[in-house]
Amino acid sequence: MSEKLKVGILGGTGMVGQRFISLLENHPWFEVTTIAASPRSAGRTYEEAVEGRWKMTSPMPEAVKNIVVMNVNEVEKVAAQVDFVFSAVDMTKEEIKKIEEAYAKTETPVVSNNSAHRWTEDVPMVVPEINPEHMKVIDFQKKRLGTKRGFVAVKPNCSIQSYAPVLTAWKEFEPYEVVATTYQAISGAGKTFQDWPEMEGNIIPYIGGEEEKSEKEPLRIWGEIKDGVIVPATSPVITCQCIRVPVLNGHTAAVFVKFRKKASKEELVAKLTEFRGVPQELELPSAPKQFIQYLEEDNRPQVSMDVDYEKGMGVSVGRLREDTVYDWKFVGLSHNTVRGAAGGAVLCAELLKAQGYITKK
Ligand SMILES: NC(=O)c1ccc[n+]([C@@H]2O[C@H](COP(=O)([O-])OP(=O)(O)OC[C@H]3O[C@@H](n4cnc5c(N)ncnc54)[C@H](OP(=O)(O)O)[C@@H]3O)[C@@H](O)[C@H]2O)c1
Repeated sequence: MSEKLKVGILGGTGMVGQRFISLLENHPWFEVTTIAASPRSAGRTYEEAVEGRWKMTSPMPEAVKNIVVMNVNEVEKVAAQVDFVFSAVDMTKEEIKKIEEAYAKTETPVVSNNSAHRWTEDVPMVVPEINPEHMKVIDFQKKRLGTKRGFVAVKPNCSIQSYAPVLTAWKEFEPYEVVATTYQAISGAGKTFQDWPEMEGNIIPYIGGEEEKSEKEPLRIWGEIKDGVIVPATSPVITCQCIRVPVLNGHTAAVFVKFRKKASKEELVAKLTEFRGVPQELELPSAPKQFIQYLEEDNRPQVSMDVDYEKGMGVSVGRLREDTVYDWKFVGLSHNTVRGAAGGAVLCAELLKAQGYITKK
């Protein structure tokens, strides 16, 4: 019998679900044994259910082609087959909240890509390099749910990954005011140019709900556990505009920062390139060796050259320069469906395994 943990992908037929399946091919710790989606796909093999809508550039892994897709709503049946699940279903927020907790209550840990539980007080929202200690709030969540091993953990929104790690690396200089504009790829809406041709040569200055997430989620990540819940930080204040741009993958952010403490360019760059976290120390399978790279060239980071840095798990930063109104400005880039979605969730699951929260049933 395989020693690997058995994983189910809820919403495995969708864009993020497909990314999970691609990233988990040959994963050293996890094996996709179960895929669940809507009743529309249930009962068909994965290959049949996804026919004509496989959106990854790498081919569909052979090992999943003949898996018969299950119905996400048959919670007990799906949960009985796996040690834990990744969640990437697209339902209403209330439905997602309910179904993720239903899985947790079957003693099945849920690592979610969805936003539904990001503000549930005892659910950790984690970037493993930034706030791995937040996973401890799971102990309080389990008490609320009445579970021994079942819980929900989430990763934050894709938009913040191009600047929140950078601001974290600069923490000792005390950033207190941040203005960010994000230039977000169409895959963040689950789309390609084939299914969203209006985006070719176009820009849309609206992404529903995104600005609020981009402003508030970093504060929760920088928060701390008090009395069994995560209490968000209150500084730095962040204001953000989020713009959809004609790019397939990769969210770019143009950011201005004010600091309470003075820093030189050399010091700021050194803090970025030296920045390491628990995933690097533990050498987790999906951890980038170098989390943040700094590029000196004036025309970097560029989506076409840098989005796949560290297999899409790293952050690329460039154009750091003094500003006439703010103190410093820079441009950051990260891969929205790898670091910003499925890859970030896989790294969370690896951390949870290393911390002993995900085990064999
Ligand atoms: N795309 C991104 O980069 C990104 C980033 C962060 C977060 N997200 C979030 O991740 C989730 C998935 O996004 P996506 O882009 O992968 O969406 P998607 O391509 O539309 O896939 C949605 C998945 O959910 C399933 N589903 C839809 N309605 C359902 C229902 N009523 N009951 C059970 N399953 C249902 C679909 O199954 P069928 O195939 O059977 O319809 C499919 O597996 C969304 O909540 C989205 O907001 C996406």
